[in-house]
Amino acid sequence: MKKADIGLVGLAVMGENLVMNMESKGFTVAVYNRTTEKVKAFVEGRAAGKNIIGCYSIEELVSNLEKPRKVFMMVKAGQAVDQLIEQLLPLLEEGDILIDGGNSHFPDTIRRTEYVESKGLLYVGCGVSGGEEGALKGPSMMPGGSVAAWPFVKPIFQGVCAKVEDGAACCDWVGENGAGHFVKMVHNGIEYGDMQLICEAYQLMRDGLGMSPEEMHEVLTAWNETELDSYLIEITRDILGYKDENGETTVNYILDTAGQKGTGKWTAVAALDEGVPLTLIGEAVFSRCLSAMKSERVNAAKVFPKSIPAFEGDKAAFIECIRKALYASKIISYAQGYTLMRTAAKTYGWNLNYGGIALMWRGGCIIRSVFLGKIKEAYDKNPALENLLLDDYFAETIKTLVDAWREVVAYAVKIGVPMPAFSSALNYFDGYTTECLPANLLQAQRDYFGAHTYERIDQPRGKFFHTNWTGHGGNTSAGTYNA
Ligand code: 2AM
Repeated sequence: MKKADIGLVGLAVMGENLVMNMESKGFTVAVYNRTTEKVKAFVEGRAAGKNIIGCYSIEELVSNLEKPRKVFMMVKAGQAVDQLIEQLLPLLEEGDILIDGGNSHFPDTIRRTEYVESKGLLYVGCGVSGGEEGALKGPSMMPGGSVAAWPFVKPIFQGVCAKVEDGAACCDWVGENGAGHFVKMVHNGIEYGDMQLICEAYQLMRDGLGMSPEEMHEVLTAWNETELDSYLIEITRDILGYKDENGETTVNYILDTAGQKGTGKWTAVAALDEGVPLTLIGEAVFSRCLSAMKSERVNAAKVFPKSIPAFEGDKAAFIECIRKALYASKIISYAQGYTLMRTAAKTYGWNLNYGGIALMWRGGCIIRSVFLGKIKEAYDKNPALENLLLDDYFAETIKTLVDAWREVVAYAVKIGVPMPAFSSALNYFDGYTTECLPANLLQAQRDYFGAHTYERIDQPRGKFFHTNWTGHGGNTSAGTYNA
């Protein structure tokens, strides 16, 4: 019997769907799952009659693979991956390739790449996005790790991944060691941000403009024909139009406490570690935390009762302002996300393919959108682009949006509707485009209480000064003291 092109371990839904996808593209796949009943159920069920080889031990899986062997691990992130690597290593040989397609945290992938390479094998940490349906029909795939593995896995990955209209594959080599999982993590952070922005627009329309779900459904239908055309706008449109068997709008009955699995938090923590102002995603994570404090909010709402005034103005025109403000904020979120990737690339020594990343996100994944095509163009034009806002297209676009953006944020602040993502995006924009921030005063404060020194505008950079502010502090500066 023909040996398999690839082996896959972990037959949960994502794993099974990826196997079905690979098989449908002409690849033979050997499969194994720790609980072997799942192997039996799969090969006798969905996989029956297909080029899928059921294996009941890891040894059997490995012996069924064409060399260099490729093993796709689709198991729970964390210890399970390390355990599986330990089980596989003694059975594999030099040049064989281990692939982790789970949601691993990038520092783990950096460590595992080094470890597996030290044993003479190759390692790929591959972010996979698109959920169950994406896995089956074409996910966005973000592989990084041992670059020598790429030519061997490329035909399979680019065969099964999502494609955009012109046929381009939503999968390309991302970079060294943990780069693939890092980019997948940033994708998830951006997903948090995109979702939060849509939710804030929804709240302003609902509470500020008194709109019904049906009206908002119409608005989002129209928005999806504009630059906002995206998967998340599409599903939100459908959610707002969805009614249960009693004719009630389901979303109105859903408790307003958001869950999270932690990848947004990882992104925000990575930004703090890198010193990158990733404010919008940070607000999106904190907004979920605040939403989870339901009972406290219920009490606080009684202490501070609100009465939001009825909107008096041109409603249609204001809805267009909300659309523009959403678009502007979204540009900021991606500008911040890309800045994080650029900074991390320097820290970790990655050679990231920024245009390629936009293309990988263009289809298949949750943040897929037409807008990402513009980001790809910006990085194709200038791969060293310092900030997306400085690209001609985005700079000109923001200029056409900024008045509406201010109007929306100001109105929300005035009537008491929270819009943390919209407003933090605007604050970032205003900070980023301000030549003189008040950090001169901040440096003075630091120098006052801690003798931390400061640089002067009338002296070269790198020369540090200390002032004896009180007249009795002395002239000694605190070189290493951090308050
Ligand atoms: P199971 O069916 O035997 O639980 C998602 O949880 C997938 O990861 C499942 O296929 C699960 O296998 C697998 N998994 C979780 N922990 C594992 C481990 N320590 N070793 C191998 N597979 C594991």
